[in-house]
Amino acid sequence: MSDHTDYGSDGVGFMDGEYMPFSQLRIPVTDMGFQLADMCYDAVHVWKGRFFRLDDHLDRFQQGLDKRRYDSLGYDRDAIAEICHGCVARLGLDDAFLMLVATRGVPKGANKDLRTCKNRLMAWATPYHAIVSDEEMTEGCDIVVANTIRIPTEAVDPTVKNFGRLDFVGALFEAYDRGADYAVLLDEEGCVTEGRGWNIFALKGGILTSPDSGVLEGITRQTVLELSGTLNIDGRLARLPVDQLRGADEVFLSSTAGGIMPVRTVDGEAVGDGAPGPVTQRLSELYWKMHEDPACTTPVKPLSPPS
Ligand SMILES: Cc1ncc(COP(=O)(O)O)c(C=O)c1O
Repeated sequence: MSDHTDYGSDGVGFMDGEYMPFSQLRIPVTDMGFQLADMCYDAVHVWKGRFFRLDDHLDRFQQGLDKRRYDSLGYDRDAIAEICHGCVARLGLDDAFLMLVATRGVPKGANKDLRTCKNRLMAWATPYHAIVSDEEMTEGCDIVVANTIRIPTEAVDPTVKNFGRLDFVGALFEAYDRGADYAVLLDEEGCVTEGRGWNIFALKGGILTSPDSGVLEGITRQTVLELSGTLNIDGRLARLPVDQLRGADEVFLSSTAGGIMPVRTVDGEAVGDGAPGPVTQRLSELYWKMHEDPACTTPVKPLSPPS
């Protein structure tokens, strides 16, 4: 809580064909995105003037649109990519964070038939930020295992990135009450899922595990799995019973907003010796090194000069 600037005060937004200050983006309260959390989104980051894995983010966004049955957005993939470039170029920063958000839109009649909605697209670019503080990035963060469970996948598909997040809200207030800032949620069977904005990894006996179900299929998670191969670490997606998290040698979070973020305590108990472990550190170095690789980065297109 070191930053006293209001969230959203700085940034470039796009909606209805126009770029505008982020703080001016608005949706009406009649949009089902507000009333039902009927929306989906994606978040990409830009590092040193290059998008990281933009195609993967656009693919996941499109899959979310398809799963949510959004078919009247009015922008194809190329047009959406142009909007990403347009927002970041107008922001004018080398390191940025870009959100693409689609909402169901406003229905035609009072019976709110969802099929009558024209789907809405918004985007905004803001300065790059991580979901943990600089100190937590180097020292590790403290997380708790919440009693609130992750909403079952049969109710809401977690592979569609969405703002229907009251399970995370309940879990976060549990964390605040217990002196932590972050909470991981279990599923109905007591296996670890994820937290607000991140996937989680646990290293035990040389095996690096991240939950295989009940979670967003994170692009950073995918990157970590690829990098673990290059380090000859057995990285896998599997069920992660909570006891394996508690007894882990190393634990870290993964997210577009921060990369690889070490965890130093779980429910107040130190993970390993309480400092970021060597595998976490090595993966983090490789993760940032990958940002120089043209195969997984896309340079932000400069704005064309006014004619
Ligand atoms: C619920 C949830 N899980 C995991 C992640 C991490 O996904 P990614 O690595 O694609 O940023 C996010 C990112 O915002 C998220 O919201």
